[in-house]
Amino acid sequence: MKLQNDLIIKACKRLPTERTPIWIMRQAGRYLPEYRAIRRKHDFLTMCKTPELSAEVTIQPVDIVGVDAAIIFSDILVIPEAMGMELKISEGRGPVFSHPVQSEDDVKKLKTPDPEKDLKYVMDAISLTKNELNGRVPVIGFAGAPWTILTYMVEGHGSKYFSKVKKLIYENPELAHELLEKIADATADYLSAQIEAGANLVQVFDTWAGLLSPRDYRVFALRYVQQLISKIKRRGAPVIYFPKGVHYLFHELKECGADAISVDWTIELTKVRRKIGDKVAVQGNLDPTVLYADPSFIKREARKVLESYGKGDGHIFNLGHGILPDIDPENVKELVSYVKEESVKFHSKK
Ligand code: CP3
Repeated sequence: MKLQNDLIIKACKRLPTERTPIWIMRQAGRYLPEYRAIRRKHDFLTMCKTPELSAEVTIQPVDIVGVDAAIIFSDILVIPEAMGMELKISEGRGPVFSHPVQSEDDVKKLKTPDPEKDLKYVMDAISLTKNELNGRVPVIGFAGAPWTILTYMVEGHGSKYFSKVKKLIYENPELAHELLEKIADATADYLSAQIEAGANLVQVFDTWAGLLSPRDYRVFALRYVQQLISKIKRRGAPVIYFPKGVHYLFHELKECGADAISVDWTIELTKVRRKIGDKVAVQGNLDPTVLYADPSFIKREARKVLESYGKGDGHIFNLGHGILPDIDPENVKELVSYVKEESVKFHSKK
């Protein structure tokens, strides 16, 4: 099926486009009343595991806010669940693993999931979404990076100090490596299966990359991201890597195998571009809380992001992290249409 809008794919490959493409991390979610209406009737995991519901909320932001891609509605934590860990989503507290990984025995018990069986619901959601979109925009598949998944498997839930996972990497690094290896392998199979099912590109979320010192980041995070990316059967699908909180290392990140690096809002894109040159594309990086302000302020800030990247191809507009649940969808629409219009000035006519 030919894509009618392949701007994101082109931007990932740093090919010329007439404008800068835009999508928004966590774009399928609670800030949309249309999402909340469905969510009222089903719990979160049921929505993830019912392809019709997942496809429906995946497509909502394409129809409602006009983004240039649909990211499949799911969660990064379905991988540990498929490896055998019991996952519950508690209202108010977020995702919780009832029995976090604590010992060698716990690691041994984890299985290597067969994505076509254990995560079939994700593949079905992708095929259904593709059919329903009929080529309007690309579909983004995703997974968590091994380090970020490890933090949830060991902590059991989100955390303030991440003491348990830090303790593990310092006291028993061998066990941490064994587990990271398992996660990287399972995730490579999982992302390959998503591409096979029709995902046009994939993003790897490393939300907790910024918790580590530069040395530990290389040893416990970056290495497994490289391993993971090298094992994905890509069939031409670009890979975006989002290492939140890591902006001291762009000269190394550009070698990780990803086509694009997604950047949080704590650094100017000019600097990022200078460091990674023309080697990879750049995604980002509006501060998500700017969307609380009024449209004229949002546009000024969006313009600064476009200016900071500067003229030329290879930029995908996004927030520096996920959209917050209490943002007014009208502001998101304003942002999307502004970027679509204004960014034309940053691309040369043939
Ligand atoms: O981007 C999208 O629209 C696709 C869907 C998506 C979700 N989670 C849906 C979701 C994606 C890409 C994710 C990734 C994810 N999940 C990450 C990495 C990205 C990031 O934001 O850092 C992480 C760390 C998780 C783990 C997770 N899932 C947490 C911490 C929470 C609770 C916090 C929260 O936002 O509620 C979730 C639940 C979750 N995942 C929701 C959604 C829409 C909220 C569920 C609800 O409707 O109650």
